[in-house]
Amino acid sequence: MNATISRMPNRTHPTRHTKIAAAAGVAALTAGALWFTDQAPYPYAQRRLLDIQLPFLTKTDLDSMLQPRAGERILELGPGTGLQALHVAPQLGPSGRLDIVDIQQEMLDHVMTQAERGDISTIHPHRADARELPFEDHSFDAVYLVTALGEIPEPERVLSAATRVLRPGGRLVVGEFFDRHWISFGRLHRMADQNGLHFTARRGPSLAYMARFRPCGRTAATRG
Ligand SMILES: C[S@@+](CC[C@H](N)C(=O)[O-])C[C@H]1O[C@@H](n2cnc3c(N)ncnc32)[C@H](O)[C@@H]1O
Repeated sequence: MNATISRMPNRTHPTRHTKIAAAAGVAALTAGALWFTDQAPYPYAQRRLLDIQLPFLTKTDLDSMLQPRAGERILELGPGTGLQALHVAPQLGPSGRLDIVDIQQEMLDHVMTQAERGDISTIHPHRADARELPFEDHSFDAVYLVTALGEIPEPERVLSAATRVLRPGGRLVVGEFFDRHWISFGRLHRMADQNGLHFTARRGPSLAYMARFRPCGRTAATRG
């Protein structure tokens, strides 16, 4: 074979570098598409990451925004492994009650195992979709979600369902962190307005915050 011809690039077959670049491009596009469209629930296999407290979404931040009191009935949506649930439930005392709703049975089982180990008997698990809550209207003194609202498809429906089950004067606390499911504070505020919820307090910047709302029509005796 002629040496000059054999060194010429073969235009019909891509080189190894071209193949690698193409594969990297496809991977980047796939990751980008997932960032915007993936709505699968948080995988139980990665549960250990859920035990890390995020800045501005710590247990102290939650206490400050939720202000749980003995005897109250509170609802958590999307508890994951129970970082917040196992902290809130004891504050409700023996006459209080924390209901938790998650779409994944593994998460609920995990929380209940931990609750049993910690001798906490006031957590009640429900496997359900947070968009269709299996509770009567006005059943709860407070509802909260931490890094869960943005993960659930149609967050507007979640807020609507949460508002329905809140008693007049109750509290809704939402914590959001900048990940691929993040809901900005501005968007949350607009959704809350549409559901007749008044904004009452916030901790943290828009990238990592907790915000508290209350159904309209509260009485003067209720808290801010
Ligand atoms: C990122 S984890 C947050 C867990 C916990 N709040 C924390 O901060 O560590 C989101 C949780 O929402 C739950 N979830 C996702 N979609 C849901 C849905 N449609 N209804 C109820 N829970 C849902 C997931 O199973 C998961 O437990």
